[in-house]
Amino acid sequence: MTGHPLESVSHTGFEKFVQIRRHLHQYPELSNEEFETTKAIRGWLAEAGIRIVEAGLATGVIAEVGGVRPGPVIAIRADIDALPVQEETGLSYASRIPGKMHACGHDFHTASLLGAAYALKERESELQGTVRFVFQPAEEKAKGARQVLDSGVLDGVQAIFGLHNKPDLPVGTIGIKSGPLMAAADGFVVEVDGKGSHAAVPEAGLDPIVTAAHIITALQSIVSRNVSALQSAVISVTQLHSGTAWNVIPEKAVLEGTIRTFDEQVRAQVLERFSQVVDGVTSALGTSGGVRWIEGPPPVINDEALAQLGLEAAAAAGLEAVVPVPSPAGEDFAVYQREIPGLFVFMGTAGTQEWHHPAFTLDEAAIPASIRFWTELADIALKQLASGGGEQP
Ligand code: NI
Repeated sequence: MTGHPLESVSHTGFEKFVQIRRHLHQYPELSNEEFETTKAIRGWLAEAGIRIVEAGLATGVIAEVGGVRPGPVIAIRADIDALPVQEETGLSYASRIPGKMHACGHDFHTASLLGAAYALKERESELQGTVRFVFQPAEEKAKGARQVLDSGVLDGVQAIFGLHNKPDLPVGTIGIKSGPLMAAADGFVVEVDGKGSHAAVPEAGLDPIVTAAHIITALQSIVSRNVSALQSAVISVTQLHSGTAWNVIPEKAVLEGTIRTFDEQVRAQVLERFSQVVDGVTSALGTSGGVRWIEGPPPVINDEALAQLGLEAAAAAGLEAVVPVPSPAGEDFAVYQREIPGLFVFMGTAGTQEWHHPAFTLDEAAIPASIRFWTELADIALKQLASGGGEQP
């Protein structure tokens, strides 16, 4: 892409946050092991005299700017954890930790939020309220948001905001959409119990493989026959294990896979139908079975009024807003949105690879863009919430 106004903007004034991102990139830590990352973030916050809110978290940091003038409290969240991926970017600042990499760009999220905290600290006395900065651990395991909420540091927060880098959007663009943006990502394990027998004498046993085959086929009817044409869902069986010999009908079969949905009602309906299919097919075929759910994060559903604020902030920050295509990936920001109105956006980072790829990269020109977006958004959101607009009851 050429000619976008942001391309001519240098990193002047933002080098510090580019360097911070590169430091984090070199020393990635996995979910709930972000001890050095936590220490480093506390250090950078202290350098700028930014208040740290003690939350009792083992990893992760909560900080705060504002409160000089009374007003609402909003939160902005960045995730700080990395992935068990061996980096293959060849960058000069590539990961120095074997088998660990910031392959989802959470180093970029963290550096951008630090930049926003610095910028907002400079104009603290003008802020009409308080901004709480959430450097959240363990997003990749979908645990961190719960840990932050349980610590109580978000009590009284009226709106929460978060972003994820988006490799397929150019720098200078931002994906903002009200309603569903990312999927609920649940997992399942189905165990089918039959009765083993000689393969030549099937009538003496109860075949779990035939049952598993019928279950997989019947599951295909859920999306096609139970989910409205105006809604969507995905059911993928990704593992099927059974048997040890060519001439033995085994005792057991195990199926595993995932269900993705963008709506809580559809999610509940699909999970219910799934259990009914397993119960019905096993009982019809004389075997028995059970479903074990691996509950993932709920869907990311953006608040309509906050999406409007996001569009205003994007314009003020000189970003081009686009309507993003929802992603079937999961994101634990959704856990906050069940309790606090929230907006999650996609920041264009012009990457060459998708999230979690060993050669994942991003264009660091998106750091100034993100800092400007957060700074404008905090300002606009506090003013509007203070004036009784948006989310105030
Ligand atoms: Ni991520």
